[in-house]
Amino acid sequence: MTSLSSATYNSIDSKLDPASSKQSPPALFYPLDINNLHLRNRLAVSSMCSYAAGPGNQIANLHLSRYKSFSAQHPGLIMIEGMCVDPKGKLDDKELGIWNDKQAEKLKDVVDEIHKDGCVCCVQLSHGGRKAIGDGGGLNDNGNASVAINDVVDDGVEIIAPSAIAYDNRSKVPKEMSLADIKHVIASFAQAAKRAVKISEVDAVEISCCNGNLLHQFMSKATNLRQDEYGCQSVQTRCKLLLDILDQVRHQIGAQTPIFVKLSACDNLFKDESLDDFLAIADLIVATGQVSLIHVTSGKITPNSKPRYALNSDPNVPGHIPLASVLKKHIDDECLVGCSGALDMDVLRLNKYVEDGLIDVAFIGQGFLEMPDLVNQFAAKLHYKLT
Ligand SMILES: Cc1cc2nc3c(=O)[nH]c(=O)nc-3n(C[C@H](O)[C@H](O)[C@H](O)COP(=O)(O)O)c2cc1C
Repeated sequence: MTSLSSATYNSIDSKLDPASSKQSPPALFYPLDINNLHLRNRLAVSSMCSYAAGPGNQIANLHLSRYKSFSAQHPGLIMIEGMCVDPKGKLDDKELGIWNDKQAEKLKDVVDEIHKDGCVCCVQLSHGGRKAIGDGGGLNDNGNASVAINDVVDDGVEIIAPSAIAYDNRSKVPKEMSLADIKHVIASFAQAAKRAVKISEVDAVEISCCNGNLLHQFMSKATNLRQDEYGCQSVQTRCKLLLDILDQVRHQIGAQTPIFVKLSACDNLFKDESLDDFLAIADLIVATGQVSLIHVTSGKITPNSKPRYALNSDPNVPGHIPLASVLKKHIDDECLVGCSGALDMDVLRLNKYVEDGLIDVAFIGQGFLEMPDLVNQFAAKLHYKLT
């Protein structure tokens, strides 16, 4: 069971001892404890695939320098980009993998560098499902592409999904997964999590259930037409794969290491899509008692699945803030809530979202790539002196 302290900013006494001369930090710079982890602030580097893996889909020098540049800024949390749990689930020849111990050993080099800067780091675990290129591609141990992959041509490489529906008319039709395939995917996530924690020594693991990837494909009515226990009949059946994975991941990594879920709130296939499903899914996740944080995002399940900002009435509000705040109100402090998506456009507003308890953690992607001193700049705009 997860334990959270100093969670929602407005639910705690944010004032320091009045006798103390210390400046009270703005909400964005207020620390956060998750189990035994201490985040020095609420700013997180969001997961960003670089598709720059070395031979054997392992960590390369580029990753070491990129993550070092993030940790040197001292954000509260660094998400390591999506790492594929099974060769069949690769989105790209050069996606990082964590389906063997060698890959996890190389990941440890990155984790060690992040830890030297006193940052908390979490790895994202994912599987591309119907969006993947399958097990035919990738680099072999000599760094050569083993098979040329082209998603237009049927190259004989199998990809898998809940139902045999192609992503678009240029993509391959995936094989509908058998129960044995499902069992294999559950074991792949659990073993990958175990490697990440026991070999790479990451502080937390995130299960990716968004961006149209395999777990999102099971959850969405647009892509899951199954009629078995993992089928489309109910929220429970659409969620079962994620819940089974959470159970097995927890079993493999022990009680203490936090688990996060990056979750798609809605498919954005039409305006004012209901959030009832999203809240019901979140309830099931929270009820497991195993998940410390839900990172809210949306869309990308089909080519028409628009980014959320296209549906937002107020262009000044980052698209996922309204979704995350609905979730936060619904689950309160039972689980932390974060989101990403243009949160860096106005730091004063962002600080207010945290202060008002709309979100607990602010995930930022592009901003960290573009601004080498983002954390300092945010602190300066909030007139906060970093120590
Ligand atoms: C280059 C790049 C790579 C990304 N790779 C991933 C990924 O591996 N996993 C994931 O869940 N999201 C990925 N994302 C999405 C980001 O984590 C984030 O949710 C999104 O960019 C919105 O945040 P931002 O507007 O601050 O960039 C990626 C985004 C970018 C720009």
